Amino acid sequence: QLEGRLTDETLPRSVASDGKFIPSNIRWWCSGFYPGSLWYIYEYTGDKTFRELAEKNTFKLYPLKQKGTDHDLGFQMNCSFGNAYRITGEQKYLEPIHTSARVLAGRFSPVTGVIRSWDFVRKGRDWKYPVIIDNMMNLELLMWAADRSGDKSLRDMAVSHADKTLKHHFRPDFSSCHLVSYDTISGQPHLKQTHQGLSDSSAWSRGQAWGLYGYTCMYRLTGDARYLEQARGIAGFLINHRNMPADGIPYWDFDAPALASTPRDASAAAIMASALVELSGFVPAAEGERYMAFAEKQIRTLASPEYTAPAGENGGFILRHSTGAYPFSSEVDVPLTYADYYYLEALTRIKRRLQP
Ligand code: GLY
Repeated sequence: QLEGRLTDETLPRSVASDGKFIPSNIRWWCSGFYPGSLWYIYEYTGDKTFRELAEKNTFKLYPLKQKGTDHDLGFQMNCSFGNAYRITGEQKYLEPIHTSARVLAGRFSPVTGVIRSWDFVRKGRDWKYPVIIDNMMNLELLMWAADRSGDKSLRDMAVSHADKTLKHHFRPDFSSCHLVSYDTISGQPHLKQTHQGLSDSSAWSRGQAWGLYGYTCMYRLTGDARYLEQARGIAGFLINHRNMPADGIPYWDFDAPALASTPRDASAAAIMASALVELSGFVPAAEGERYMAFAEKQIRTLASPEYTAPAGENGGFILRHSTGAYPFSSEVDVPLTYADYYYLEALTRIKRRLQP
């Protein structure tokens, strides 16, 4: 349904309140999620039609490999070209992955020890070198390229970023702030703020899910027990949170009022479910079963008519009720392409667990 709404240069983004489909250009941070979703559908079903669509939409992103203007290259290239190579093993997908990993590495500073997220400064904020928790999701691209190219420096940067984020983004209860700005001379944090969350001290739901996913992934890629402990801590914070609704779909921020009128964020639930399925394989059996049970609850809720739109509705997207950026009144209670992507990933991961 989405394919018919696209041109050679556009990808799906969301749906407006009047029901109008909203496309994005390839530079928007979400451009890799639609090709990635098509790769997951192909992996799940084996239907070659989806492989052809996945290939076509993946190559739309080819010019992005040189985009050094923000950290999102990891999301964009890993979800598209990364999945393409993982599933097909075809050499043609390799070069854009290696090139974009080196471009992303150009945003790393040895002074701060982290990859800079953004070059813009928000009005009234005094960011010098902003790094958001979401950036943990870009490390897989560096690790992947390091392991296949033999360029160990890419791995060192990813590990440094994960270590500094662990030290500076997290609070004692394993929640994380959204943004840390580093001083470019001392390399130390000088500000801890939010951008998309309720407040500087709140737990923005999608940010918590990015952290859970990021440290689970970094444990898979390094075997470093500190990352596993971090992921377990974040999982405990989320699963046991007093404001986690009984159906497993978080409000847009864990510190937003727990009311029926508070928007949920289906994307946070989908990211969390996918991460929990992976994490469940790294811990003792009883703990793993708890993570799988929670992920299953989230997936069943997402699969219910409340969240899964009937075919032909919802602009062609699968899931409803995600929240992009509540404080900016942007993308509130809408479908979002990354909610669909991580939902499909979670389903594929569960299938792989059940039929290895
Ligand atoms: N990485 C941007 C977001 O999660 O909204």
